[in-house]
Amino acid sequence: MIVAIDGPAGAGKSTVARRLAERLGFRYLDTGAMYRAVTWLAMQRGLPLGDGAPLGELASANPVTFDESGRVSIAGTDVTASIREARIDRQVPVVARHPEVRLVMRERQRELAKQGDVVIEGRDIGTVVAPDAEVKVYLNADAATRARRRQAERPDIGGDALATDLRLRDESDAARMRPAPDAEQIDTTGLEVDDVVAQIEQLVQTRLAASPR
Ligand code: DC
Repeated sequence: MIVAIDGPAGAGKSTVARRLAERLGFRYLDTGAMYRAVTWLAMQRGLPLGDGAPLGELASANPVTFDESGRVSIAGTDVTASIREARIDRQVPVVARHPEVRLVMRERQRELAKQGDVVIEGRDIGTVVAPDAEVKVYLNADAATRARRRQAERPDIGGDALATDLRLRDESDAARMRPAPDAEQIDTTGLEVDDVVAQIEQLVQTRLAASPR
């Protein structure tokens, strides 16, 4: 079974998806980490980020891998920590916007999705990567809540700068931030992680009861 969890930055996707996967005994796939890793490598190699074709080639030649504990590697380097830096936050939408990059990433994501039960988080999972996902959820939260959550993860950046970064990123990501028409939309503002996880688990159980395996 595929559980697709989409939504903007700070909506709670990662925390919820990780915990849900743990509870269900499913794998967890963070597609944002894949775009971040390619962005890290492009910057490392000094590639111009405005040019799609070489970035697509870079992504194709350097598949992102996840180990058992979820550590992220690309081109032989563990980038788990570096891909969460603010400089990557700022540049990743520039890289993720190129169709050449998306083509490579989506193909790889579909391959990884095929390897058994999985919770996948991203922006375009329910719409493009896995439109046949058995369960689709679109998480959102109000702007202040999303900025506050990001602030907790990025204590080194000032609140105003962070809110601006988040707004700019939303604008660049907007084209891909459409909920699938058949996604369950959950506003996580004011909700506890466990409440959101429980809601999605309920959707999974309902789905399993409707078509047992
Ligand atoms: O979820 P995140 O913040 O780690 O995502 C990083 C960036 O990657 C974000 O700016 C949008 C982009 N992204 C995307 O375009 N498609 C996805 N499936 C996942 C992430």
